[in-house]
Amino acid sequence: MKSRKFFWQIFAALFGLSACSSLALYFVAASDATLLRALLISLPIQIVLAVLLALRLERSVDILRSLLSSMAEGVIAVDSDMRITQVNEAAGTIFQLDPKAAVGKSVRDVIREPAIIDLIEDVRRHNKTAEQDIELGDERLRHLHLQAGPMDSDSRAVGVVAVFSDVTRMRELEGMRRNFVSNVSHELRTPLTSIQGFAETLLNPAVKDPDEVRKFLQIIQRHATRLGRIIEDILTLSSIERDAESNQIELKVETIRPVLESAVEICAPRAHNKKIKIELECAKTLVAPIDPHLLEQAIINLIDNAIRYSDEGRPIRVEAEPVGNEIHLRVVDQGIGIPEKQLPRIFERFYRVDKARSRELGGTGLGLSIVKHISLAHKGSVEVQSQLGRGSRFTIRLPAQASA
Ligand SMILES: Nc1ncnc2c1ncn2[C@@H]1O[C@H](COP(=O)(O)OP(=O)(O)OP(=O)(O)O)[C@@H](O)[C@H]1O
Ligand SMILES: [Mg+2]
Repeated sequence: MKSRKFFWQIFAALFGLSACSSLALYFVAASDATLLRALLISLPIQIVLAVLLALRLERSVDILRSLLSSMAEGVIAVDSDMRITQVNEAAGTIFQLDPKAAVGKSVRDVIREPAIIDLIEDVRRHNKTAEQDIELGDERLRHLHLQAGPMDSDSRAVGVVAVFSDVTRMRELEGMRRNFVSNVSHELRTPLTSIQGFAETLLNPAVKDPDEVRKFLQIIQRHATRLGRIIEDILTLSSIERDAESNQIELKVETIRPVLESAVEICAPRAHNKKIKIELECAKTLVAPIDPHLLEQAIINLIDNAIRYSDEGRPIRVEAEPVGNEIHLRVVDQGIGIPEKQLPRIFERFYRVDKARSRELGGTGLGLSIVKHISLAHKGSVEVQSQLGRGSRFTIRLPAQASA
């Protein structure tokens, strides 16, 4: 690095020397012809040096350009008249503009966001860096973090460079986490308040009737079981998410039918209590890359819902078949169905169509969320079709072959 700098210093010195000697010749040359001859001799040297300098400059500009275009952050540079001098591709995507066409235009005409213009203007006027979080509210709310600083040359302000980072995903995740914590607290508080209330009542010496004491203890037991279920479901969800994120879920090509049979068997006593028959349809040879234990859990959750949200005697069908390059696993019921407006939300954590009814039936509202995460861990998806009063069909779509 040092030797290259030295090399260019020599070139600059030669260039300067040649220019100075031409100037000196102008004053001392005996005749115009001598001057012309001397200039003609030094001209090629100056041209070669100028070309080399131009090439070097162009290479620096190329490096700068490819650096800007490979950045994930948006960059916009403006001159002292607020005209755009540089825009990279990322900024083009954020503001939906053509970077090449934007150069030379006033930044006020290109970015119609007063908060951004005010900040750049502020930096230009006070020659001081500034940063701010900005929300862009078009069809979808986006969060940008903007940092702007003065560009100066020889301590003279020549413009402003603004760097935009799209922090939407980060803000969404923070929001989801906040929501989750407040939902969990709310869900835990309900059974906990009941347990505290009934325990206090039992401590009252006036409560002596053994039947009454037994009734209160049963209520406490029911709420304690519910607390345990919520905590267990939260732990299941977070362990699936954690394992999926760290690629710890090992998918092996295995037969599907035993998984479905086992899930049906586990749910059979509950189905029997409601006089519900469960039909199973799946070829013995059907295979897919799966984690059998997780997949069984997902199918149990779906059958459990089908039983829970069906009237007595309504049959349930569990089936699996190949469709294109996917395997579709379905749980179909003839139960109460789900209103169309609520369909997009039922896979959200703690979402229940009828909170009171679900709670009465012992539901936590996490079952379908677990199904969704298990499907995602299999690189698949889950979807639902439902008609109010007629029944629902849940489909888990899995890739038929392991991805490379
Ligand atoms: N087969 C179904 N038929 C009708 N409604 C359903 C069906 N499956 C799910 N739902 C609706 O979707 C909501 C969310 O289901 P999810 O399984 O996540 O929670 P849950 O059944 O209430 O509780 P749990 O977490 O204990 O399963 C349910 O509360 C119910 O309103
Ligand atoms: Mg459920």
